[in-house]
Amino acid sequence: MSSASAPAKLILCGEHAVVYGRPAIAVPLSDVRAYAEVASAARGAGLRFHAPDLGEDWSADGQPEHPLSELARAVLARLGAPNDDLSITLRSDIPIASGLGSGAAIGTALVRALAARLGATLPPDEVAALVYASERRYHGTPSGIDNTVVAYEQPIWFVRRAPAPLIEPLAIGAPLTLLVGDTGVRSATRLPVGAVRERWQADRARYEALFDQVGELVTQARTALAAGDAPLLGRLLDANQVLLEQIGVSSPELERLVAAARTAGALGAKLSGAGWGGVMLALVTPETRDNVAEALRGAGATRVLGA
Ligand code: MEV
Repeated sequence: MSSASAPAKLILCGEHAVVYGRPAIAVPLSDVRAYAEVASAARGAGLRFHAPDLGEDWSADGQPEHPLSELARAVLARLGAPNDDLSITLRSDIPIASGLGSGAAIGTALVRALAARLGATLPPDEVAALVYASERRYHGTPSGIDNTVVAYEQPIWFVRRAPAPLIEPLAIGAPLTLLVGDTGVRSATRLPVGAVRERWQADRARYEALFDQVGELVTQARTALAAGDAPLLGRLLDANQVLLEQIGVSSPELERLVAAARTAGALGAKLSGAGWGGVMLALVTPETRDNVAEALRGAGATRVLGA
């Protein structure tokens, strides 16, 4: 049997604007992961998938258009073993539709476990490209940042551009303490991403100006990160939240958690990921961490993760 895993991800700043070519910063959440195991199946069984956490069992022949059927087939074709009979088990600790990149992590774990099964090691850019092709079919217009940070598993600076994205590992001057608060509201990425696209099409000037402002503060955040200047980074995260509210992807549940985190002493707080639900992040210090975590729970967070 071969197995592999991949981490959840957190967008520190720049979501949505990143779809329109502005930079964004993302970090892996290595303690929260998705797992894939690949074992032999009976001859002629084809690809059998078991996803107990999702309550799903399917076969690639029965559901050829399932994104993970297609991804597995693409990987096997790429590795020259298109007709293998395999039993694939997928598990994940990452809540789905929460902004933590569960789809990208499950896809990445699957690609790696299949490669391991065939004795191949794929470099992170190739893993990211395979998962991106699959996400693209099902999520409309993803920027590629999710599959990239998950495949590289390190903090990245990401700019979508043709023919390939700019991906740079990020220098971090001093350790950051982040908390992630889950609103418990599930929201599929493609919905807010699609809504932003419609608004952008209706009023390009307004949205391009908002995306420019996001891009500027993400650039400043990179400098603040390199310098280890957490108070400045916190102010930039707060400013990013204001812009995300103007872009129209926040929600009352997210704003309740953001406000609670700030009142309890966070240096900055914002939604993270696509929005309308899912998670928010708070930049804290080791001293304020427990207070802020408590405040997030008190304000309705269904789970609080340390990052
Ligand atoms: C989702 O994690 C991040 C978004 O910017 C969408 C994307 O970049 O594909 C909202």
